[in-house]
Amino acid sequence: MKRLSNDRTVVGPIFLALIFLSQSAWSSSDRDTLKPNPRNFASVTKGAKLFQANCAACHGNQGEGAPDWRIPNQNGQFRPPPLNGSGHMWHHPLPVLLSIIRDGTAAQGGTMPAWKEKLSEHDMVDVIAWLQSKWSREIYLRWQQIDSRSHR
Ligand code: HEC
Repeated sequence: MKRLSNDRTVVGPIFLALIFLSQSAWSSSDRDTLKPNPRNFASVTKGAKLFQANCAACHGNQGEGAPDWRIPNQNGQFRPPPLNGSGHMWHHPLPVLLSIIRDGTAAQGGTMPAWKEKLSEHDMVDVIAWLQSKWSREIYLRWQQIDSRSHR
């Protein structure tokens, strides 16, 4: 009798620990597949091509944006901002960046087109990785902090 109860007290926590470990392993691998990695050469290279084809006409070949991007036009709309680390793209955690690219800004009265019909979420992550490869280390680390807070 005594042995059985001991077994139970040990088995319960081990079982819970296994569930916890398997769940955290799943969620972290899920997340990894969708995280931009500016050090992943293949992803950055693909992102560069996608950016030139779809985004450069507005945001500039290197993501430098329009010179007067801070000043709204007569309709109160903004011109394409820089995405190369000199603007405020890094203020937005990944889910916000993805939703701007996916849905555009028409619903907010802006002129950024939606890309969900043309680019997969992986494509968008590759483009973000290429842009982030241009950011300073400091800006990138600050973005990582903002982004990790949004996942809690
Ligand atoms: C037709 C011009 C145009 C094209 C093409 C375009 N954008 Fe934009 N983008 C804008 C404008 C204008 C804004 C500013 C938001 C607004 O509409 O007020 C913006 C904003 C953004 C932002 C938010 C930046 C910030 O600092 O808040 C991101 C990220 C972005 N664009 C990424 C992209 C990506 C990636 C592509 C290509 C897949 C792309 N854009 C293509 C015009 C464009």
